[in-house]
Amino acid sequence: MGSESSGSLVGVIGAGTMGAGIAQLAVQAGHTVAVYDAVDGAAARAVKSIGKRLDSLAAKGRIDAEEAQAGKDRLRAIEAPAKLKDAVLVIEAVVEDLGVKQKLFAELEGIVGVDCLLATNTSSLSISAIAGGLREPERLVGMHFFNPAPLMPLVEIIDGLATAPAISAAVAALAQAWGKTTVHCRSTPGFIVNRVARPFYAEALRAYEEQAADFATIDAVLRESGGFKMGPFELMDMIGLDVNLAVSTSVWEATGYDPRYTPAWTQKEHVAAKRLGRKSGRGFYEYGEGVEKAAP
Ligand code: NAI
Repeated sequence: MGSESSGSLVGVIGAGTMGAGIAQLAVQAGHTVAVYDAVDGAAARAVKSIGKRLDSLAAKGRIDAEEAQAGKDRLRAIEAPAKLKDAVLVIEAVVEDLGVKQKLFAELEGIVGVDCLLATNTSSLSISAIAGGLREPERLVGMHFFNPAPLMPLVEIIDGLATAPAISAAVAALAQAWGKTTVHCRSTPGFIVNRVARPFYAEALRAYEEQAADFATIDAVLRESGGFKMGPFELMDMIGLDVNLAVSTSVWEATGYDPRYTPAWTQKEHVAAKRLGRKSGRGFYEYGEGVEKAAP
């Protein structure tokens, strides 16, 4: 597939936590990458921060200075998806909302060429439903990266009911060429990782709400004695509490409101108060100027 050739154009839509990481990954894999975000200036900010990350990798000797510069030269922010007509692959990483994703892919279908692969980084929404309104639903596939995308090795490749096997095979080959390990799965609620991980967050939130211990203690216990790299509350802060709540809600709805997946009051209250985690400077913990402390 043309998408595997170095230098070919990859579009990334949504320049938040995941979009920026995916764009960095694609650019380091040798692609030309165009980033679009609906919020004015967000794509440009992401491009700038990726540039800084490439410079920092070069300063640490992890990549050559020339490679960092070449990566920056291949990366650009665009002001409209219309600029993606020559893309070989578009990866969507916008808000976890079915209607927004459906609308976006319907628009993209009218822009990109017939051979362009369409991938969604959704954490939990049905690939079949996202593809539902498309003229060619067979070319939409789930390509679920984990946070931070440049570092985390796994990518779930998810087939909706209509996804053509050749499309998921092409996207899996591409992710492997980018250095990732892939797992192929069907579109079920939360796929593999987010389905299995839901109780990790849900039970931690319940234990906290029942006052078993404060969240910093729960995190410390799991991290220091449970063998987990991060505790559930610090992980929710890294993921984004809004994203985590959207995933909880989507899995809960898709399983017919199975009480095991009921979103917790604490999650909803934090999201309502815009305490979204690292990206907003405060979630369960406070962030900024090298500070990381439990928020009161
Ligand atoms: P985020 O909130 O950091 O970024 C989302 C970005 O999408 C924002 O910059 C927003 O302005 C933009 N956006 C919203 N609607 C748009 C539209 N119609 N067109 C263009 N841009 C639009 O969210 P994050 O965390 O990057 O998540 C993005 C997607 O990736 C979601 O589907 C999420 O479930 C999924 N995901 C998130 C992970 C995480 O750990 N945060 C991990 C894996 C997947």
